Amino acid sequence: MEVAVRFMKRDDIPQISAIENCSFPSPWSQQAFLNELQNKFAVYFVAIHENNLIGYAGMWLFCGEAHVTTIAVHPDFRGRGLGKMLMNTLIDYAREQGADTMVLEVRPSNIPALNLYKSLGFRNIGWRKNYYIETREDALVMMCSIGQENSDRQRGEEQ
Ligand SMILES: CC(C)(COP(=O)(O)OP(=O)(O)OC[C@H]1O[C@@H](n2cnc3c(N)ncnc32)[C@H](O)[C@@H]1OP(=O)(O)O)[C@@H](O)C(=O)NCCC(=O)NCCS
Repeated sequence: MEVAVRFMKRDDIPQISAIENCSFPSPWSQQAFLNELQNKFAVYFVAIHENNLIGYAGMWLFCGEAHVTTIAVHPDFRGRGLGKMLMNTLIDYAREQGADTMVLEVRPSNIPALNLYKSLGFRNIGWRKNYYIETREDALVMMCSIGQENSDRQRGEEQ
């Protein structure tokens, strides 16, 4: 399957929002994505297949750390390696910008996401209590070293 990854643009937001609404219990509004486009610490990528936006991922970059803010793949295209492709795009870009660690929060009940992050070398470093207000779930905090010393091997292979 041919997929191109590029930076998110303003015109992408309606398609992103459609995926967002069927991917998260508390989806971000279109305005939230617009705000992120104006956030100088934020960077977002989209995955395009046959002119359709089928996934996206973003992060904040500051003080040598990358903080993943969101990632989602259209339900019809899950399980085909796109989540891993988008995460590797974030990792490569963050490393190029000088970040040496990447951090994220995940619901402990989100098995696909947990497996994705573990397969990329993320490890558990703690919890954020009552992070997901709507379900009163705690968030698992995960971290991965992404510095230059980790750039030579292909991510997604056995760590
Ligand atoms: C999490 C998500 C982005 C994964 O995207 P994806 O394109 O389906 O993932 P990939 O095909 O790249 O799979 C990568 C790895 O994730 C894990 N994984 C993916 N889907 C899985 C599933 N249904 N069950 C268990 N593990 C799964 C596997 O370890 C897989 O590696 P493998 O194929 O070598 O076994 C996608 O499920 C999604 O959009 N979910 C809704 C939004 C969301 O929960 N985002 C994360 C918020 S923290």
